[in-house]
Amino acid sequence: MYTLIDGKKVAAEIKNEIAIEVAKLRNERKKVPHLAAIFVGDDTSSQTYVANKVKDCNEVGFRSTLVKFENDIPESVLLDKIAELNNDDDIDGFIVQLPLPDHISENKVIESIDPSKDADGFHPVNLGKMVIGLPGFLPATPYGIVELIKRYKIETSGRKCVVIGRSNIVGRPVSILLSQKGMDATVTVVHSRTKNIKDIVKEADIIIAAMGSPSFVTADMVKEGAVVIDVGTTRINAPGTKTGFKLAGDVDFENVAPKCSFITPVPGGVGPMTRVSLLRNTLMAARNRK
Ligand code: GUN
Repeated sequence: MYTLIDGKKVAAEIKNEIAIEVAKLRNERKKVPHLAAIFVGDDTSSQTYVANKVKDCNEVGFRSTLVKFENDIPESVLLDKIAELNNDDDIDGFIVQLPLPDHISENKVIESIDPSKDADGFHPVNLGKMVIGLPGFLPATPYGIVELIKRYKIETSGRKCVVIGRSNIVGRPVSILLSQKGMDATVTVVHSRTKNIKDIVKEADIIIAAMGSPSFVTADMVKEGAVVIDVGTTRINAPGTKTGFKLAGDVDFENVAPKCSFITPVPGGVGPMTRVSLLRNTLMAARNRK
């Protein structure tokens, strides 16, 4: 029988811990953390993500500011706004929701964020710190995955971990975190050009599925007793539901779960932990600014 990793529950616990800390700051009449989020365009899923981030801030007692731009704003206007937030003493941290429209360079945008306010942990300075194990902001999803693994006391030392996907915001950073001292996993990253993916994944004690392809990981790819962390969040049509869609993970949950020791559901696994990681980074940004 497998253990279902309840990301929703763990995220709620962490949110409580943060809310208690914020209440203390408020009682002492100290400044409460303030996160700003910049959102460009009209993509509906990105819009939901940003709205949820603002909602999370409100729930723990943070202040939040949402800055919206039309899809066709010139890159320079966005860069000017970032410079303004960098210099605004009232803002502790901010994020620019990705993806951005094609005419705007994501790299340029990320590099223009003050690393001390980079609540997403996407700036090369913060990614560099992560690589060499210095304290800094960690990208939200990898941070959330590591925290889930720790809170469920899942052994990583010396175990074979296969990360499927090499994105800058999930696959690559989580592979680095899991191989670091303290986590000590032996990590393999597989991707779209890897040969014999099935054979490699089948060897894994821990599988992190993060390539955004619904039900890619099937039961024949999973070793008996493996730990499976599903990062997939593809929207698929679901007529008759309230929203008209549902989230599909990268794992064929129904058939894979019976082989696992631990597995995350979608939704309710990694997603809530990603959201709470942004709050943790914002709290750290506020503390560092004192
Ligand atoms: N798009 C998908 N995930 C993320 C995230 O964690 N942060 C930002 N800014 N954009 C995203």
